Amino acid sequence: MSDRPELFTWGFASNPYPAYAWLREHAPVYKAQLPSGVEAWLVTRYTDARQALADSRLSKNPAHHDESAHAKGKTGIPGERSANLMTHLLNIDPPDHTRLRRLVSKAFTPGRVAGFEPQVQSLADRLLSEFSGAGAADLIHEFAFPLPIYAICDLLGVPKEDQEDFRNWAGMMIRHGGGPRGGVGRAVKRIRAYLADLIHRKRADLGDDLISGLIRASDHGEHLTENEAVAMCFVLLFAGFETTINLIGNGALALFQNPPQRALLQAAVAAGDSRLLDTGIEELLRYDGPVELATWRYATQPLEIGGQAVSTGDPVLVVLAAADRDPARFSRPNTLDLARADNPHLGFGHGIHYCIGAPLARLEGRVALSSLLTRLPDLRLAVDPAELRWRGGLIMRGLRELPVEFTPA
Ligand code: HEM
Repeated sequence: MSDRPELFTWGFASNPYPAYAWLREHAPVYKAQLPSGVEAWLVTRYTDARQALADSRLSKNPAHHDESAHAKGKTGIPGERSANLMTHLLNIDPPDHTRLRRLVSKAFTPGRVAGFEPQVQSLADRLLSEFSGAGAADLIHEFAFPLPIYAICDLLGVPKEDQEDFRNWAGMMIRHGGGPRGGVGRAVKRIRAYLADLIHRKRADLGDDLISGLIRASDHGEHLTENEAVAMCFVLLFAGFETTINLIGNGALALFQNPPQRALLQAAVAAGDSRLLDTGIEELLRYDGPVELATWRYATQPLEIGGQAVSTGDPVLVVLAAADRDPARFSRPNTLDLARADNPHLGFGHGIHYCIGAPLARLEGRVALSSLLTRLPDLRLAVDPAELRWRGGLIMRGLRELPVEFTPA
Protein backbone atom coordinates (compact mmCIF):
# COMPACT_ATOMS: atom_id res chain seq x y z
CA MET A 1 0.00 0.00 0.00
CA SER A 2 3.08 2.25 -0.17
CA ASP A 3 1.76 4.21 -3.12
CA ARG A 4 -1.55 4.92 -1.46
CA PRO A 5 -2.43 8.51 -2.36
CA GLU A 6 -2.89 11.19 0.26
CA LEU A 7 -6.52 11.74 1.15
CA PHE A 8 -8.20 14.97 2.25
CA THR A 9 -5.21 17.20 1.54
CA TRP A 10 -5.24 20.49 -0.34
CA GLY A 11 -4.46 18.96 -3.74
CA PHE A 12 -6.98 16.21 -3.09
CA ALA A 13 -9.81 18.74 -2.76
CA SER A 14 -9.24 20.13 -6.26
CA ASN A 15 -9.31 16.68 -7.86
CA PRO A 16 -10.10 13.71 -5.60
CA TYR A 17 -10.91 11.36 -8.48
CA PRO A 18 -7.48 9.77 -9.04
CA ALA A 19 -7.20 8.98 -5.32
CA TYR A 20 -10.69 7.48 -5.32
CA ALA A 21 -9.81 5.40 -8.41
CA TRP A 22 -6.81 4.03 -6.51
CA LEU A 23 -8.93 3.15 -3.48
CA ARG A 24 -11.63 1.56 -5.65
CA GLU A 25 -9.03 -0.71 -7.17
CA HIS A 26 -6.71 -1.47 -4.24
CA ALA A 27 -8.67 -0.85 -1.03
CA PRO A 28 -12.36 -0.60 -1.91
CA VAL A 29 -13.49 -0.57 1.73
CA TYR A 30 -10.76 1.39 3.44
CA LYS A 31 -10.40 2.60 7.01
CA ALA A 32 -9.27 6.19 6.67
CA GLN A 33 -8.29 8.72 9.25
CA LEU A 34 -10.29 11.87 8.63
CA PRO A 35 -8.93 15.37 9.18
CA SER A 36 -10.88 15.48 12.46
CA GLY A 37 -8.93 12.43 13.68
CA VAL A 38 -11.99 10.14 13.54
CA GLU A 39 -11.54 6.88 11.66
CA ALA A 40 -14.23 5.81 9.18
CA TRP A 41 -14.66 3.19 6.47
CA LEU A 42 -14.68 4.67 2.98
CA VAL A 43 -16.77 2.62 0.53
CA THR A 44 -15.78 3.39 -3.06
CA ARG A 45 -17.14 0.68 -5.40
CA TYR A 46 -20.56 1.22 -6.97
CA THR A 47 -22.05 -2.16 -5.98
CA ASP A 48 -20.83 -1.90 -2.37
CA ALA A 49 -21.94 1.74 -2.17
CA ARG A 50 -25.45 1.01 -3.37
CA GLN A 51 -25.78 -1.90 -0.98
CA ALA A 52 -24.44 0.06 1.98
CA LEU A 53 -26.83 2.96 1.32
CA ALA A 54 -29.77 0.55 1.58
CA ASP A 55 -28.41 -1.60 4.43
CA SER A 56 -30.70 -1.37 7.47
CA ARG A 57 -27.85 -2.59 9.71
CA LEU A 58 -26.18 0.76 9.11
CA SER A 59 -27.87 3.34 11.31
CA LYS A 60 -28.09 7.09 10.71
CA ASN A 61 -28.41 7.76 14.43
CA PRO A 62 -25.12 9.19 15.77
CA ALA A 63 -25.82 7.51 19.12
CA HIS A 64 -24.59 4.31 17.46
CA HIS A 65 -21.09 5.70 17.12
CA ASP A 66 -18.92 4.20 19.83
CA GLU A 67 -16.67 7.24 20.10
CA SER A 68 -18.98 9.71 21.74
CA ALA A 69 -16.05 12.12 22.13
CA HIS A 70 -16.32 12.74 18.42
CA ALA A 71 -20.04 13.17 18.44
CA LYS A 72 -19.91 16.77 17.25
CA GLY A 73 -20.48 17.81 13.68
CA LYS A 74 -20.84 14.28 12.35
CA THR A 75 -24.02 14.89 10.48
CA GLY A 76 -22.31 17.58 8.43
CA ILE A 77 -24.63 20.15 9.93
CA PRO A 78 -22.46 22.52 11.91
CA GLY A 79 -23.80 23.75 15.22
CA GLU A 80 -26.77 21.48 14.90
CA ARG A 81 -26.44 19.71 18.22
CA SER A 82 -26.32 22.89 20.23
CA ALA A 83 -29.53 23.98 18.57
CA ASN A 84 -31.29 20.70 19.37
CA LEU A 85 -32.29 19.99 15.79
CA MET A 86 -31.53 16.29 16.00
CA THR A 87 -34.86 14.85 14.97
CA HIS A 88 -34.48 15.37 11.24
CA LEU A 89 -34.60 12.79 8.47
CA LEU A 90 -30.87 12.37 7.95
CA ASN A 91 -30.29 11.53 11.61
CA ILE A 92 -32.93 8.93 12.32
CA ASP A 93 -33.90 5.34 11.45
CA PRO A 94 -37.23 3.57 11.02
CA PRO A 95 -39.81 3.60 12.45
CA ASP A 96 -39.39 7.33 13.22
CA HIS A 97 -37.87 7.97 9.81
CA THR A 98 -40.75 6.21 8.06
CA ARG A 99 -43.32 8.28 9.93
CA LEU A 100 -41.60 11.64 9.32
CA ARG A 101 -40.78 10.87 5.70
CA ARG A 102 -44.38 9.89 5.01
CA LEU A 103 -45.64 13.13 6.55
CA VAL A 104 -43.24 15.37 4.65
CA SER A 105 -43.92 13.51 1.40
CA LYS A 106 -47.57 14.50 1.67
CA ALA A 107 -46.62 18.16 1.57
CA PHE A 108 -43.41 18.20 -0.49
CA THR A 109 -44.91 16.56 -3.57
CA PRO A 110 -43.53 16.46 -7.13
CA GLY A 111 -46.69 18.34 -8.15
CA ARG A 112 -45.93 21.21 -5.77
CA VAL A 113 -42.39 21.38 -7.17
CA ALA A 114 -43.52 21.28 -10.82
CA GLY A 115 -45.93 24.14 -10.16
CA PHE A 116 -43.04 26.14 -8.76
CA GLU A 117 -41.12 26.29 -12.06
CA PRO A 118 -42.30 29.79 -13.13
CA GLN A 119 -41.14 31.21 -9.79
CA VAL A 120 -37.70 29.60 -10.10
CA GLN A 121 -37.43 30.93 -13.65
CA SER A 122 -38.28 34.49 -12.64
CA LEU A 123 -35.83 34.23 -9.75
CA ALA A 124 -33.07 33.11 -12.12
CA ASP A 125 -33.98 35.92 -14.54
CA ARG A 126 -33.86 38.54 -11.78
CA LEU A 127 -30.48 37.34 -10.46
CA LEU A 128 -29.03 37.21 -13.97
CA SER A 129 -30.26 40.73 -14.73
CA GLU A 130 -28.38 42.01 -11.69
CA PHE A 131 -25.00 41.15 -13.22
CA SER A 132 -25.58 40.54 -16.93
CA GLY A 133 -24.61 44.11 -17.85
CA ALA A 134 -21.25 43.88 -16.07
CA GLY A 135 -19.36 41.54 -18.40
CA ALA A 136 -17.88 39.68 -15.41
CA ALA A 137 -19.19 38.01 -12.27
CA ASP A 138 -18.53 35.45 -9.61
CA LEU A 139 -21.05 32.84 -10.58
CA ILE A 140 -21.10 31.29 -7.11
CA HIS A 141 -21.80 34.46 -5.11
CA GLU A 142 -24.02 36.21 -7.60
CA PHE A 143 -26.03 33.32 -8.95
CA ALA A 144 -25.50 29.77 -7.63
CA PHE A 145 -25.63 30.83 -3.96
CA PRO A 146 -28.71 33.11 -3.87
CA LEU A 147 -30.84 31.04 -6.27
CA PRO A 148 -31.46 27.99 -4.05
CA ILE A 149 -31.73 29.97 -0.85
CA TYR A 150 -34.42 32.28 -2.25
CA ALA A 151 -36.11 29.34 -3.97
CA ILE A 152 -36.43 27.27 -0.81
CA CYS A 153 -37.53 30.37 1.16
CA ASP A 154 -40.28 31.01 -1.42
CA LEU A 155 -41.33 27.38 -1.38
CA LEU A 156 -41.45 27.19 2.42
CA GLY A 157 -43.34 30.48 2.61
CA VAL A 158 -40.68 32.68 4.27
CA PRO A 159 -41.90 36.27 3.70
CA LYS A 160 -39.80 38.25 1.18
CA GLU A 161 -38.79 40.83 3.80
CA ASP A 162 -37.11 38.10 5.88
CA GLN A 163 -35.28 36.36 3.05
CA GLU A 164 -32.25 38.65 3.24
CA ASP A 165 -31.71 37.39 6.82
CA PHE A 166 -31.73 33.83 5.50
CA ARG A 167 -29.22 34.75 2.84
CA ASN A 168 -26.91 36.09 5.57
CA TRP A 169 -27.40 33.09 7.88
CA ALA A 170 -26.83 30.69 4.99
CA GLY A 171 -23.68 32.61 4.06
CA MET A 172 -22.39 32.25 7.60
CA MET A 173 -23.08 28.53 7.65
CA ILE A 174 -21.40 27.91 4.35
CA ARG A 175 -18.33 30.04 5.08
CA HIS A 176 -17.74 28.31 8.39
CA GLY A 177 -19.06 24.89 7.36
CA GLY A 178 -17.46 21.88 8.99
CA GLY A 179 -17.22 23.09 12.57
CA PRO A 180 -19.74 24.00 15.21
CA ARG A 181 -17.80 27.01 16.47
CA GLY A 182 -18.20 30.76 16.18
CA GLY A 183 -20.83 32.35 14.02
CA VAL A 184 -22.30 29.07 12.83
CA GLY A 185 -23.79 28.10 16.17
CA ARG A 186 -25.32 31.57 16.43
CA ALA A 187 -26.68 31.41 12.87
CA VAL A 188 -28.26 28.02 13.53
CA LYS A 189 -29.85 29.26 16.75
CA ARG A 190 -31.30 32.26 14.96
CA ILE A 191 -32.66 30.15 12.12
CA ARG A 192 -34.20 27.82 14.68
CA ALA A 193 -35.85 30.64 16.61
CA TYR A 194 -37.06 32.26 13.40
CA LEU A 195 -38.53 29.01 12.04
CA ALA A 196 -40.26 28.19 15.34
CA ASP A 197 -41.87 31.63 15.31
CA LEU A 198 -42.84 31.41 11.63
CA ILE A 199 -44.43 27.98 12.10
CA HIS A 200 -46.34 29.36 15.05
CA ARG A 201 -47.66 32.26 12.96
CA LYS A 202 -48.56 29.99 10.01
CA ARG A 203 -50.54 27.72 12.28
CA ALA A 204 -52.86 30.61 12.97
CA ASP A 205 -53.10 31.59 9.30
CA LEU A 206 -52.49 28.65 6.95
CA GLY A 207 -51.61 29.42 3.33
CA ASP A 208 -50.62 27.29 0.35
CA ASP A 209 -46.87 27.27 1.07
CA LEU A 210 -44.84 24.22 2.11
CA ILE A 211 -44.77 25.10 5.82
CA SER A 212 -48.56 25.28 5.84
CA GLY A 213 -48.56 21.97 3.96
CA LEU A 214 -46.32 20.43 6.62
CA ILE A 215 -48.60 21.68 9.39
CA ARG A 216 -51.66 20.30 7.59
CA ALA A 217 -50.11 16.94 6.71
CA SER A 218 -51.44 14.07 8.73
CA ASP A 219 -51.04 10.34 8.62
CA HIS A 220 -53.53 8.19 10.54
CA GLY A 221 -54.36 11.29 12.55
CA GLU A 222 -50.71 11.99 13.38
CA HIS A 223 -49.08 15.36 12.75
CA LEU A 224 -45.56 16.72 13.04
CA THR A 225 -44.80 17.99 16.53
CA GLU A 226 -43.61 21.59 16.86
CA ASN A 227 -40.00 20.48 17.25
CA GLU A 228 -40.24 18.03 14.34
CA ALA A 229 -41.67 20.74 12.10
CA VAL A 230 -38.79 23.09 12.95
CA ALA A 231 -36.20 20.35 12.38
CA MET A 232 -37.91 19.40 9.10
CA CYS A 233 -37.82 22.98 7.77
CA PHE A 234 -34.23 23.26 8.88
CA VAL A 235 -33.13 20.10 7.09
CA LEU A 236 -35.00 21.13 3.93
CA LEU A 237 -33.13 24.43 4.01
CA PHE A 238 -29.79 22.98 4.90
CA ALA A 239 -29.87 19.90 2.67
CA GLY A 240 -31.27 21.90 -0.22
CA PHE A 241 -29.04 24.88 -0.53
CA GLU A 242 -25.33 24.00 -0.48
CA THR A 243 -26.07 20.95 -2.64
CA THR A 244 -27.82 23.04 -5.28
CA ILE A 245 -25.09 25.71 -5.24
CA ASN A 246 -22.68 22.89 -6.04
CA LEU A 247 -24.83 21.45 -8.81
CA ILE A 248 -24.85 24.84 -10.55
CA GLY A 249 -21.17 25.61 -9.81
CA ASN A 250 -19.67 22.18 -10.54
CA GLY A 251 -22.04 21.82 -13.50
CA ALA A 252 -21.02 25.13 -15.07
CA LEU A 253 -17.34 24.30 -14.54
CA ALA A 254 -17.74 20.88 -16.19
CA LEU A 255 -19.37 22.58 -19.19
CA PHE A 256 -16.56 25.16 -19.43
CA GLN A 257 -14.01 22.36 -19.41
CA ASN A 258 -15.79 20.30 -22.07
CA PRO A 259 -16.46 22.76 -24.91
CA PRO A 260 -17.92 20.27 -27.44
CA GLN A 261 -20.43 18.98 -24.87
CA ARG A 262 -21.29 22.51 -23.86
CA ALA A 263 -21.85 23.46 -27.52
CA LEU A 264 -24.23 20.54 -27.99
CA LEU A 265 -26.21 21.52 -24.91
CA GLN A 266 -26.29 25.18 -25.86
CA ALA A 267 -27.62 24.34 -29.34
CA ALA A 268 -30.28 21.99 -27.94
CA VAL A 269 -31.47 24.53 -25.37
CA ALA A 270 -31.55 27.32 -28.00
CA ALA A 271 -33.68 25.05 -30.21
CA GLY A 272 -36.12 24.48 -27.34
CA ASP A 273 -35.19 20.79 -27.05
CA SER A 274 -34.93 19.91 -23.36
CA ARG A 275 -33.96 16.25 -23.68
CA LEU A 276 -30.20 16.86 -23.51
CA LEU A 277 -30.77 19.20 -20.58
CA ASP A 278 -32.60 16.44 -18.70
CA THR A 279 -29.98 13.73 -19.29
CA GLY A 280 -27.27 16.39 -18.91
CA ILE A 281 -28.31 17.27 -15.35
CA GLU A 282 -28.12 13.57 -14.42
CA GLU A 283 -24.68 13.34 -16.01
CA LEU A 284 -23.43 16.42 -14.16
CA LEU A 285 -24.66 14.84 -10.92
CA ARG A 286 -22.69 11.71 -11.76
CA TYR A 287 -19.57 13.33 -13.20
CA ASP A 288 -18.85 15.89 -10.49
CA GLY A 289 -21.77 15.72 -8.11
CA PRO A 290 -22.52 18.12 -5.24
CA VAL A 291 -22.31 15.47 -2.51
CA GLU A 292 -18.92 13.79 -2.42
CA LEU A 293 -19.62 11.50 0.55
CA ALA A 294 -23.05 10.42 1.71
CA THR A 295 -23.79 11.41 5.31
CA TRP A 296 -22.57 9.32 8.26
CA ARG A 297 -23.74 5.81 8.91
CA TYR A 298 -22.84 3.52 11.85
CA ALA A 299 -22.74 -0.27 12.05
CA THR A 300 -25.28 -1.51 14.59
CA GLN A 301 -23.84 -5.06 14.45
CA PRO A 302 -20.80 -6.80 12.99
CA LEU A 303 -21.17 -6.97 9.22
CA GLU A 304 -19.25 -7.22 5.96
CA ILE A 305 -19.09 -4.65 3.22
CA GLY A 306 -17.47 -5.88 0.02
CA GLY A 307 -15.83 -8.72 1.99
CA GLN A 308 -14.38 -6.35 4.61
CA ALA A 309 -15.37 -6.94 8.25
CA VAL A 310 -16.87 -3.87 9.90
CA SER A 311 -17.37 -3.80 13.70
CA THR A 312 -20.31 -2.55 15.72
CA GLY A 313 -20.11 1.22 16.16
CA ASP A 314 -17.77 1.79 13.21
CA PRO A 315 -18.63 4.84 11.09
CA VAL A 316 -19.17 4.16 7.38
CA LEU A 317 -18.91 6.83 4.68
CA VAL A 318 -20.15 5.94 1.22
CA VAL A 319 -18.08 7.83 -1.33
CA LEU A 320 -20.68 8.77 -3.94
CA ALA A 321 -18.04 10.55 -6.05
CA ALA A 322 -16.04 7.32 -6.29
CA ALA A 323 -18.99 5.00 -6.90
CA ASP A 324 -20.30 7.22 -9.68
CA ARG A 325 -17.04 6.84 -11.60
CA ASP A 326 -16.72 3.10 -11.13
CA PRO A 327 -15.73 1.59 -14.50
CA ALA A 328 -17.47 -1.64 -13.42
CA ARG A 329 -20.79 0.22 -13.70
CA PHE A 330 -20.26 3.17 -16.05
CA SER A 331 -18.65 3.02 -19.47
CA ARG A 332 -15.98 5.72 -19.94
CA PRO A 333 -16.62 6.92 -16.36
CA ASN A 334 -14.23 9.87 -16.54
CA THR A 335 -15.84 11.25 -19.69
CA LEU A 336 -18.63 13.81 -19.52
CA ASP A 337 -21.38 12.53 -21.81
CA LEU A 338 -24.48 14.69 -21.41
CA ALA A 339 -26.53 12.25 -23.48
CA ARG A 340 -25.55 9.23 -21.33
CA ALA A 341 -28.56 6.95 -21.32
CA ASP A 342 -27.58 4.24 -18.83
CA ASN A 343 -26.96 6.43 -15.80
CA PRO A 344 -28.19 5.07 -12.44
CA HIS A 345 -25.91 7.47 -10.52
CA LEU A 346 -25.94 7.71 -6.73
CA GLY A 347 -25.75 11.51 -6.64
CA PHE A 348 -29.07 11.69 -4.78
CA GLY A 349 -28.28 8.64 -2.66
CA HIS A 350 -30.26 5.41 -2.62
CA GLY A 351 -32.68 3.58 -0.32
CA ILE A 352 -34.90 5.11 2.33
CA HIS A 353 -32.81 8.30 2.65
CA TYR A 354 -32.89 8.98 -1.10
CA CYS A 355 -33.00 12.74 -1.60
CA ILE A 356 -36.52 13.99 -1.03
CA GLY A 357 -35.57 17.26 -2.77
CA ALA A 358 -34.45 15.61 -6.03
CA PRO A 359 -37.34 17.01 -8.13
CA LEU A 360 -36.63 20.53 -6.84
CA ALA A 361 -32.87 20.14 -7.34
CA ARG A 362 -33.38 18.96 -10.92
CA LEU A 363 -35.73 21.86 -11.61
CA GLU A 364 -33.28 24.42 -10.21
CA GLY A 365 -30.38 22.86 -12.11
CA ARG A 366 -32.29 22.89 -15.40
CA VAL A 367 -33.49 26.46 -14.99
CA ALA A 368 -30.11 27.75 -13.81
CA LEU A 369 -27.98 26.18 -16.54
CA SER A 370 -30.38 26.81 -19.42
CA SER A 371 -30.80 30.46 -18.36
CA LEU A 372 -27.05 30.98 -18.20
CA LEU A 373 -26.48 29.39 -21.62
CA THR A 374 -29.23 31.32 -23.37
CA ARG A 375 -28.80 34.73 -21.77
CA LEU A 376 -24.99 34.77 -21.69
CA PRO A 377 -24.07 32.59 -24.69
CA ASP A 378 -20.33 33.34 -24.60
CA LEU A 379 -20.03 32.82 -20.83
CA ARG A 380 -16.52 31.56 -20.03
CA LEU A 381 -14.16 30.95 -17.16
CA ALA A 382 -12.13 34.08 -16.31
CA VAL A 383 -9.24 32.29 -14.56
CA ASP A 384 -7.02 29.28 -15.04
CA PRO A 385 -8.97 26.28 -13.65
CA ALA A 386 -5.92 25.41 -11.51
CA GLU A 387 -6.52 28.64 -9.58
CA LEU A 388 -10.03 27.71 -8.54
CA ARG A 389 -10.45 27.08 -4.83
CA TRP A 390 -12.71 24.37 -3.46
CA ARG A 391 -14.50 24.62 -0.15
CA GLY A 392 -13.08 22.28 2.49
CA GLY A 393 -15.62 20.17 4.32
CA LEU A 394 -15.94 16.44 4.15
CA ILE A 395 -19.39 15.76 2.77
CA MET A 396 -19.90 18.36 0.04
CA ARG A 397 -17.88 19.09 -3.06
CA GLY A 398 -18.14 22.66 -4.30
CA LEU A 399 -16.27 25.74 -5.42
CA ARG A 400 -15.64 28.79 -3.25
CA GLU A 401 -15.89 31.05 -6.27
CA LEU A 402 -16.27 30.75 -10.02
CA PRO A 403 -15.07 33.92 -11.81
CA VAL A 404 -16.59 34.23 -15.28
CA GLU A 405 -16.66 36.77 -18.10
CA PHE A 406 -19.04 37.37 -20.99
CA THR A 407 -20.23 39.98 -23.45
CA PRO A 408 -22.52 42.26 -21.42
CA ALA A 409 -26.16 41.57 -22.23
C1 HEM B 1 -30.97 13.43 1.16
C2 HEM B 1 -28.20 14.86 -2.54
C3 HEM B 1 -30.95 18.82 -3.13
C4 HEM B 1 -33.43 17.62 0.83
C5 HEM B 1 -30.00 13.49 0.20
C6 HEM B 1 -29.00 12.46 0.00
C7 HEM B 1 -28.21 12.88 -1.03
C8 HEM B 1 -28.72 14.14 -1.49
C9 HEM B 1 -27.00 12.17 -1.60
C10 HEM B 1 -28.85 11.17 0.78
C11 HEM B 1 -27.80 11.28 1.85
C12 HEM B 1 -27.51 9.99 2.56
O1 HEM B 1 -28.20 8.97 2.35
O2 HEM B 1 -26.56 9.98 3.36
C13 HEM B 1 -28.72 16.05 -3.02
C14 HEM B 1 -28.20 16.76 -4.17
C15 HEM B 1 -28.97 17.88 -4.33
C16 HEM B 1 -29.97 17.87 -3.28
C17 HEM B 1 -27.03 16.30 -5.03
C18 HEM B 1 -28.87 18.99 -5.35
C19 HEM B 1 -28.38 18.87 -6.53
C20 HEM B 1 -31.90 18.81 -2.15
C21 HEM B 1 -32.96 19.77 -2.02
C22 HEM B 1 -33.65 19.45 -0.89
C23 HEM B 1 -33.03 18.26 -0.33
C24 HEM B 1 -33.22 20.93 -2.98
C25 HEM B 1 -34.84 20.08 -0.25
C26 HEM B 1 -35.31 21.23 -0.48
C27 HEM B 1 -32.95 16.42 1.26
C28 HEM B 1 -33.43 15.75 2.47
C29 HEM B 1 -32.73 14.55 2.56
C30 HEM B 1 -31.83 14.50 1.42
C31 HEM B 1 -34.49 16.28 3.43
C32 HEM B 1 -32.87 13.49 3.64
C33 HEM B 1 -33.88 12.46 3.19
C34 HEM B 1 -34.04 11.32 4.18
O3 HEM B 1 -33.16 11.11 5.03
O4 HEM B 1 -35.07 10.63 4.09
N1 HEM B 1 -29.81 14.49 -0.73
N2 HEM B 1 -29.76 16.75 -2.51
N3 HEM B 1 -31.98 17.90 -1.13
N4 HEM B 1 -31.99 15.63 0.66
FE1 HEM B 1 -30.97 16.14 -0.99
